Amino acid sequence: MIRIDKNESPYRALTEDEIAKIAIDTQFNQYAENEYQDLQKSYAAFNNLDPELVSFANGSDEWIQKSVVVLGKGPILTFDPDFVMYQVYAEQFGREIVKLPSNEDHTFDYEKVYKKIEELKPSIFIFSQPNNPYGTLHPADFIEKAAEMMKEVGGYFVLDEAYGEFVEETAQYPTGDHVIRFRTLSKVYGLAGLRIGVATSTRKTMELLDSIAHPYPLNTFSLNVAVHLLNQPERLEEFIELNRELSKQLHSVFKEEVGDIIPMLESHTNFLFTYGDDAMDLGNYIVENGFLPRMYPEDESPALKKAVRYSIAKENQLEEIRKIIQKWRDEKWQSRKNG
Ligand SMILES: Cc1ncc(COP(=O)(O)O)c(C=O)c1O
Repeated sequence: MIRIDKNESPYRALTEDEIAKIAIDTQFNQYAENEYQDLQKSYAAFNNLDPELVSFANGSDEWIQKSVVVLGKGPILTFDPDFVMYQVYAEQFGREIVKLPSNEDHTFDYEKVYKKIEELKPSIFIFSQPNNPYGTLHPADFIEKAAEMMKEVGGYFVLDEAYGEFVEETAQYPTGDHVIRFRTLSKVYGLAGLRIGVATSTRKTMELLDSIAHPYPLNTFSLNVAVHLLNQPERLEEFIELNRELSKQLHSVFKEEVGDIIPMLESHTNFLFTYGDDAMDLGNYIVENGFLPRMYPEDESPALKKAVRYSIAKENQLEEIRKIIQKWRDEKWQSRKNG
């Protein structure tokens, strides 16, 4: 079974020889020395940031958990659907979480969001931009207004940009002590298993988030691999571009083969969200044929009851999926329609 359910990169960016060399050179009998600071410098240089305002943890998952621990004690606001770990961590620490449901057409009602911020005065408003699982982008005017409102109520505005590198149009996002941005090396950098999540904000807020950091927060091997990759910016750009191309291919396959019969959302990520009865039928058929997309049988969110989300795969695998879709359309969809 080929997994296309976790929005990873299907490739590693480094050769086996390079990986072996990094492993050999990694002094893991000792605690890390300057490796963390090296990654701060390399990541900041690649992303045009101040290295002193960039911190790392074991995946952005850990940053989400840390936020729940240190950013106030009041309610947490998010969307429904959104990344499942917001709720998981809120529940771990007994924090109230309020989820704003999307409309039936998978858009969000931002006027309701503004009202909810005023009424609830959340300590944290966290959401993914672009949204996981929809892949859609929240508009810039909403981001600006919601961030300002969170400042007024004394809360934190946390943008989880796990798929930010797939967004083509660059938006100017608000800044300030109340604004935190999370990114990750798990997606477009192809390092999911090494668990490197990034947080950036102002010095004051980074100090607060880092106030519960562990000593040697990341393992030396992960740090060394990431530094090796980031220090080759041209090659890394090419790898990122490859992931973006795979995302385009994934979209073309579904649009060309079933865009006229299966509803799907315009995605700015490395995955594609499809929904409805036919989407479920196709999803199950794809599972029977050896690929495992994400379905949501356990999820309470009504928007996910009949949804299937597909992550990028290798080029030849995506073409294999195309053939499976064609077969489904010829054999199953056609006969269901006729019958
Ligand atoms: C929106 C969002 N945030 C965070 C994460 C977790 O990423 P990491 O691997 O950095 O913990 C994911 C992973 O799927 C995600 O989709």
